[in-house]
Amino acid sequence: MNILITGGAGFIGSHVVRLFVDNYPNYHIFNLDALTYAGNLENLKDIEDKPNYTFVKGDITDEFFVNNLFNSHKFDGVIHLAAESHVDRSIVDPLAFVKTNVIGTMVLLNAFKNIWHGNYENKRFYHVSTDEVYGTLGETGLFTENTSYDPNSPYSASKASSDHFVRAYGETYGLPYVISNCSNNYGQFQFPEKLIPLLINNIIQNKALPVYGDGNYTRDWLYVKDHALAIDLVFHKGKNTETYNIGGFNEWKNIDLVTLLCAQMDEKLGRKAGTSEKLITYVKDRPGHDLRYAIDASKINKELGWKPSVTFEQGLEITIDWYLENEIWLKNVTSGAYLEYYEKQYS
Ligand code: NAD
Ligand code: DAU
Repeated sequence: MNILITGGAGFIGSHVVRLFVDNYPNYHIFNLDALTYAGNLENLKDIEDKPNYTFVKGDITDEFFVNNLFNSHKFDGVIHLAAESHVDRSIVDPLAFVKTNVIGTMVLLNAFKNIWHGNYENKRFYHVSTDEVYGTLGETGLFTENTSYDPNSPYSASKASSDHFVRAYGETYGLPYVISNCSNNYGQFQFPEKLIPLLINNIIQNKALPVYGDGNYTRDWLYVKDHALAIDLVFHKGKNTETYNIGGFNEWKNIDLVTLLCAQMDEKLGRKAGTSEKLITYVKDRPGHDLRYAIDASKINKELGWKPSVTFEQGLEITIDWYLENEIWLKNVTSGAYLEYYEKQYS
């Protein structure tokens, strides 16, 4: 089987690529990634020479290039993760999100449709999406697979749009698809523009820890390797045309999470308890900031037997240890353009 994974040089994609390359020697895994600021081949150093792995540098919005790639390799399965993924950047440059997340998804759908001409036996298009398409929750309730779409940011609107196109290709052309909508991931190789690695990096450097608004926003955190395992299950055992919500059963208010992280970092760095907490700085809120996300993951649990394998405390400790042991990786990704981004975002 030839499997195409898009966005495999990014955070979640690199964990998915590694899992598939290691666990399925009879598959050939192609990793298509444009290597934007978020893509980094350092994330895949340990598997880059494996015989069942090929990296392809390319842009999913480049129709000619993508069509040629599909014609050459006749992908049996596509696991589509490539995206612009950061909400704050989508507020500054929404069009970039429409291009990659909407047009890019369309280009892949067309290419997949055009190589199989309706002959879809044992074929599958898996679209990896986000819980943000459901909008925001109040103080109570959970997102289920039947929650109406109600996206609030340009990022979530672009992901919602791509989900709709995938579903439309299923209805209109019979394209065999599955979609999963996952909550906030954390773990190794996450780019330090997202909350947890940004805080870790700033604590190491004794820099301010920016907390948006009053810090009472809630997210449902999931360890990235548990997301990758869920993707493996959905790809192999999920039912066509179904959606699966994936979440950590693990809600944290931002301010509580920041406080926990500060305590763990003080211990790891041998600093006096309370040192890092002093760095907490409340800053201007994110426009359109969703109050709360929380996933009801009972469908994937009941139907496919998935549940998270680590607690948040365990996952966070593994994550902190990894960033402390990989300071060179962190330094490499936080030089140059990152500094400019950081300056603009937090000045
Ligand atoms: P990321 O930003 O770390 O990685 C995205 C990858 O896509 C990068 O390697 C980048 O180079 C690549 N890419 C971007 N534009 C491209 C293009 N035009 N052509 C080819 N490659 C391109 O993202 P992530 O956090 O790993 O998220 C991966 C997917 O999972 C996304 O679709 C995202 O919406 C979804 N998701 C993320 C989370 C999360 O918490 N991070 C949660 C749920 C769902
Ligand atoms: O829910 C899934 C989504 O989770 C994914 O689809 C997105 O790709 C991913 O980026 C993430 O989106 P969030 O906006 O929830 O993640 P982020 O890490 O940017 O922010 C988490 C929370 O922390 C959010 O309430 C905003 C807040 N925050 C974030 C940053 C970067 C701060 O308070 N300060 C910050 O500096």
